[in-house]
Parts: sequence; C-alpha cells; structure tokens
Amino acid sequence: MTPSPVFPAELFRLDGKTAIVTGAGAGIGHGIARFFARAGANVVIADRDGATAERTANELNAERPCSTWIEADVSSEGDVRRMTQHAVERFGRIDILVNDAGIFPVKPIAEMSLADWERVQDVNLRGTFLCLREAALQMRKQGGGGRIINISSIDSLHPSMIGLAHYDASKGGVNMLTRSAALEFGHDGITVNAVLPGMIATEGVAAMSAGTSAAANELFMKRTVLGRVGTPDDIAGCVLFLASAAASYITGQTFVVDGGFLIG
Ligand SMILES: NC(=O)c1ccc[n+]([C@@H]2O[C@H](COP(=O)([O-])OP(=O)(O)OC[C@H]3O[C@@H](n4cnc5c(N)ncnc54)[C@H](O)[C@@H]3O)[C@@H](O)[C@H]2O)c1
Repeated sequence: MTPSPVFPAELFRLDGKTAIVTGAGAGIGHGIARFFARAGANVVIADRDGATAERTANELNAERPCSTWIEADVSSEGDVRRMTQHAVERFGRIDILVNDAGIFPVKPIAEMSLADWERVQDVNLRGTFLCLREAALQMRKQGGGGRIINISSIDSLHPSMIGLAHYDASKGGVNMLTRSAALEFGHDGITVNAVLPGMIATEGVAAMSAGTSAAANELFMKRTVLGRVGTPDDIAGCVLFLASAAASYITGQTFVVDGGFLIG
C-alpha cells in the first residue's frame, strides 16, 4: 500500500469550515467554540442568552475575525430555522453542528411536575432533534458531507444521582437519536456522534452544585479515577477530533469523556 500523504496535525485543522455551536455562551459550548475558532473554522455562537453569545463571539473575534452570534432557544422550531439561516447568510454553508445546549435542573420524580419533565425534554431532546434536522437538510442541500456532534452525558448510561430522572431520560434519547440519524444520513456523507461528559466545571454545574449536598459532590470526586473535575477543554478536544478529518470513518458512536467515573 502507498503511504498516506497526510500529516497528522493537519487532520485537525478546520480552515474554511463553518460550525454552529448551540449553548456556546457559557460552559462546555464556550470551550468547543474556542477550539473550533483556533482550528480555523468560522463559528456561529447560538445561545438563548444573547448577551453571553455576543460576549463569546467578541472574544473569538478578538483573536481572529471568524465568529457571529445569534440569540436562539433550541426548543423553538422558529428560532432553530432562524439560526441555520443566519449561518448560511453569514458564511454560505454549514459543515459542523454541535448540539451542546442543555439544562439539568435537580428534582426527584416524586416532586416533579409534568411541566418540569417537559421543559427538560424540550431543550435537551427536542432541541437536539430540531437543530440536527435543520443542519442535516442544509448539509444535504450543499451536496452532502458534514459533522453533527451531540453532547449527551454519562447519565445517559448510568444515573449519577437522585433528581436527574428527566435529564437522564432525555440524554438516553439523545444517544438513540444519534444512532438513528447516523443511519439515515450516512449516505449523505454526514457523520453523527455523541460525546458523554462526566463532571465538568462549568457555570451550569456551579449553579447546580450550590443546590446539592457537599457529600454528593465528594462522592462524585471519589469515583473519578483521574482524581480531578474535568474542564470544557477536556470535552472540546474530543469534539474537535470528531469534527475533524481524523474521524471521517466514525459514525453513530458515543464517546465517554469522564476521567474514569464510570469505571470507578
Ligand atoms: N458540565 C457537566 O458536568 C456536564 C456533564 C454531562 C453533560 N453535560 C452537558 O453538556 C452541555 C453543556 O453543559 P454546561 O455544563 O456547559 O452548561 P452551562 O449551563 O454552563 O451552559 C449551557 C449554555 O447553554 C445555554 N442554553 C440553555 N438552554 C438553552 C436553550 N434552550 N437554547 C439555547 N441555549 C441554551 C445556556 O444559556 C448556557 O449558555 C449540556 O447539554 C449538558 O447536559 C454537562
């Protein structure tokens, strides 16, 4: 066989690609957007909080003009259509979608209202479906090819604590949606994969930890065999890999990035 002419580091460049990252105003999505921008991509920052979206886009543009932002709630079909149109109008195409926007309010089933249940499904599962569908249709219209990466959770495989039943169910749904979409869009050259983070230090987790017991947090740390809480960069590295040419033959898969929590 003739040796490949490709240099490995070049595989991870995203020059000329356009990526949408939902929930990129804060936390993991913010870290992913930064990695994408530094890898050469144009990045659309989408968040229901317009102020944080704008701040993220400004940060990225200060390093290299490459980013635009839009206020959009992923659970709204109208907002998701506006978001994809915005990306196409601004950058001409969509090559990568990261479905990061998600919520994780803590509430035991016994105290959970139907509205509590539905809001979590609406953002985490319906939102992933809506963004995935609109981006995949645009990628198909462009002639095919593209990457979709869904941010799920280790809770989709194993509940980490009481109070996240609605969340755990939504992320289990994201895993199955990932596989089904990979099957459906494979012939268009679109890969669909999911990343399942463990405990990652973000604004959202800080707010959640304030409402959970210190003992629960300590237990979580004890089980994490690498002995530290993860950072958004720990997740962004895996997402960049899946968005890159290095992962062209990977689809329908779920990648646990949890510092060893699930084996602990
Ligand atoms: N941090 C963790 O430990 C952890 C672990 C496993 C999975 N995850 C998943 O990673 C993703 C990001 O989590 P995070 O910790 O960075 O959260 P975060 O709360 O720090 O940031 C989430 C961002 O998403 C935005 N957002 C929320 N709802 C939205 C909506 N309906 N439409 C658009 N934007 C919306 C928020 O405004 C915020 O900017 C979520 O899907 C979460 O379930 C996080």
